[in-house]
Amino acid sequence: MTDQAVPAADLYTDEFAVDPYPAFAKMRTDSPVCPVTSPRFDSFLITRFDDAKAALTDPRLSKDLYGPGQHFLRIFGPNSEGLNKNMLNSDPPEHSRLRQITSRAFAPRRLEALRPRVAQIVAELVDRIVPRGEADLMRDFAIPLPMMVIGELLGIPTRDRERVLDWTQVIRESGSSGRPPAVEKAAVQEAQAWLHGYLTDLVTAKRAEPGDDMVSMLIAACDEEGVLSERELVSTTFLLLFAGHQTTADFMGNAMVALLTNPDQLDLLRKTPELLPHAIEELLRFDGPLPVASPRIATEDLEYQGVRIPEGSIVGVVINSANHDPEHFEDPDRLDLRRDRGPHLGFGHGVHYCLGVSLARMEAQLGIGALLRRLPGLRLAKPAEELRRLPAASPFRGLIELPVRFSA
Ligand code: HEM
Repeated sequence: MTDQAVPAADLYTDEFAVDPYPAFAKMRTDSPVCPVTSPRFDSFLITRFDDAKAALTDPRLSKDLYGPGQHFLRIFGPNSEGLNKNMLNSDPPEHSRLRQITSRAFAPRRLEALRPRVAQIVAELVDRIVPRGEADLMRDFAIPLPMMVIGELLGIPTRDRERVLDWTQVIRESGSSGRPPAVEKAAVQEAQAWLHGYLTDLVTAKRAEPGDDMVSMLIAACDEEGVLSERELVSTTFLLLFAGHQTTADFMGNAMVALLTNPDQLDLLRKTPELLPHAIEELLRFDGPLPVASPRIATEDLEYQGVRIPEGSIVGVVINSANHDPEHFEDPDRLDLRRDRGPHLGFGHGVHYCLGVSLARMEAQLGIGALLRRLPGLRLAKPAEELRRLPAASPFRGLIELPVRFSA
């Protein structure tokens, strides 16, 4: 790392957790490729749109964390293979094989068939909220909705979903409990071990009694075609489970806060509901749930913006900064639901482009649409700056609570 490296503690302040965009603007101007040092691992953050887009398809930036370099040790630590050695942490041709098998489960026809069921889950959750006049939209809606949807897709029995959700929340909220780091780390490891055991048992149960779900489909690919190993089965299921609900939950929370703090835009959307699909893209650009794409590794010495990134360095592509780059988005810090839909990087770019994009859009459209339609007079129950959030250094940008009131 160079002398100009920023200690993570200086970057990830309490103000940053509430509003990281001024810090991103400063980085784009002063240090567009910014070395950051942290007790966990050092990295280079790429903050401008053009560089971010180029980096996401740069073959010199590898996602193979479990290859010969064993880079996972610095990022996830030992014993992480069971859950994390999946398509997101691999390069082609491994990646292509894993993605191809899994994408069968996301075929457009299969997803469209799911729409009525997603609408039903949305309706049931909102039914429970409506008579109360107040709710925590994270706990009562944004977190359970994607969990129930992905639970159903994967074939996780209804009786287990709450427990699975509790354990995944330990990972999501790590760093925000105020407990000492060693205690937090132990809690995350316990959660990972539990999830690994649970998903391994789920695979065994589905193998004995297959259903019409994604896990059974992946088992068939493993047993009949031999294109997937047992370990890959479990780690792919974990990826789908975690990626399938975490980001969507945080996105819906962030999107609702953005709307509730921009009443003119909320009003526009209420009056023009057909704008919703377009609005979802702007809301994702405006405040996405995955501020930094998952870590890449430099396979050789390389240079971005004149900054040398030595071989073996960890590189973070800052999606939320790229999506606020004024070179690409006029007046980027303004929420403008009618904005021309320039391509944002909220779902990534390149071979790792989000596999669940259509499902995420469907859930967000049905979910946010129902909240706006069925909760009249919806407003925040406390100022946006005071909402409890995931810590600034969390890989996710999201809320722990979203208290609201409305006319019951
Ligand atoms: C609003 C919600 C979502 C957002 C913003 C989002 C965003 C992203 C991004 C940015 C990536 C690329 C990460 C990288 O290159 O490092 C990604 C990958 C991925 N996402 Fe999503 N995602 C969302 C919802 C979902 C859902 C619902 C699923 C479905 C289960 C899903 C499954 C995946 C998978 C499997 C990958 C890895 C793809 C690969 O490595 O080829 N995501 N997502």
